[in-house]
Amino acid sequence: MAEVWKAEAAFEGGDRHIVAIKRVKPEIAEVPLYLAMFQDEARLGMLLRHPNIVRVYDAREVAGTFIMVMELVDGVSLKGLLDDAFARRRSMPVAPALHIARQLAQALAYAHGARDATGAPLGVIHRDVSPHNLLLGSDGSVKLTDFGLAEASINAASVEDGLLGGKFGYLAPEVTRQQRGDHRVDLFAFGIVLWEMLAGRRLFLGATDAETLRRVSAAVVPDIQQINDRVPASVAQLLRSALTSDPAARVASAELLVEALNQAILEVDPGVSSSDVQLLVALSQAGGSLPEPTPELGFASLLEDEMDAFAAAGGEALGAQALNPDEFDLGVGVRRFKRR
Ligand SMILES: Nc1ncnc2c1ncn2[C@@H]1O[C@H](COP(=O)(O)OP(=O)(O)O)[C@@H](O)[C@H]1O
Ligand SMILES: [Mg+2]
Repeated sequence: MAEVWKAEAAFEGGDRHIVAIKRVKPEIAEVPLYLAMFQDEARLGMLLRHPNIVRVYDAREVAGTFIMVMELVDGVSLKGLLDDAFARRRSMPVAPALHIARQLAQALAYAHGARDATGAPLGVIHRDVSPHNLLLGSDGSVKLTDFGLAEASINAASVEDGLLGGKFGYLAPEVTRQQRGDHRVDLFAFGIVLWEMLAGRRLFLGATDAETLRRVSAAVVPDIQQINDRVPASVAQLLRSALTSDPAARVASAELLVEALNQAILEVDPGVSSSDVQLLVALSQAGGSLPEPTPELGFASLLEDEMDAFAAAGGEALGAQALNPDEFDLGVGVRRFKRR
C-alpha cells in the first residue's frame, strides 16, 4: 500500500536534513478508505512524541498522492536482526533483548495513555506490534513505527471500515475469534516479540496462514526456560503473563511490563544500554562475513560471542549508508529519493 524512502529535505536557505518518507502508492490513494487510513496514520503520528516512537514531522498531498515525512531511523528493523540470528540458529543475548523489550514497552505505555491537546484520551491501540515495525538505529535507538492500523479516537476511518488486525503471527487470540480486543492485543504481541528474541525462533508461524491463525488461537506457548536456560524465572513469568490467552487474565498494562523489565534488567545486567543495540545493528549489517554456526549449537545459543568478536575486530567501521543522489524530484523541497 505504501513505500518508504530515504530522502533529503531541502530547506529554503540551503539547509539539508535526511528524513524518511512514506508515500501511498498513487493507485492506492484513489481508494478512499486507504487514503483515509493513511491520513489517520499521519495525524496520529504527528501527535505522538516519545523517544521510542518514530517522529512524524509533516504530512501533505504531493503529485496526486499523499506523503508523510518522518524521522529516519538509519539501521535495521528487529525483523532484519532476528532473521539474521534465526538463520544462524542464534537467539539474542538476554540483556539486550530485555533492553529492546523495555523500549517497546515504554513506547506502548506512552501510546496507550496518550491524550490530545485538550487532554482527552486518544484511546490508541497500535494493532501491528511486530519485529517489522520496531526499528533499531545504528546509534542504538529503538523506535516503534507504523501506526497504519492503529485505532485512535481521532481516526476518520473506523476499525469496522478498515482492516482489523496486523500480521497473522502477531495477533492476539481474541482477534482470531472476531473480537476487536483492546490495548491488551498490543501486550500479547509484545509477549510474542520478546519470546521470539529469547527463543531464537518464531512462536506461532505455521506453514499456511490458516495454520498460523490456528496456533495463535490455541496460544500454546512453550516454556522459554526449556528453550533458553539463560532466561531468569522473572522473565519467564513476565512472558507467561503477557502471553495469557484470556485478556482478562493477561498483564493489564504496558506500565506493568516496564516495571517488570526494570526489575529483570537489574537482575540480569544493570549495565545494558543502547551501545549493546548499536553492536547488534552493526553485527547485522556486517551480514555474511560472520562465522557460520556449528551444528551442535541449538536454538538457545547466543549471539554474545559473535558480538564480542565483532567488537574486538573494530566493528564500528560498518554502518554508514550512501544516499543515492539521483532518482526523482517530487517538487516539495524534498528530493533525492532512494528506495529502501
Ligand atoms: N522512519 C523510518 N526510518 C527507517 N526505516 C523505516 C522508517 N519507516 C519505515 N521504515 C522501513 O520501511 C518498512 C515499512 O514501513 P512501515 O511504516 O512499517 O510500512 P508498512 O505499512 O508497509 O508496513 C519498515 O519495516 C522499515 O524497514
Ligand atoms: Mg510495517
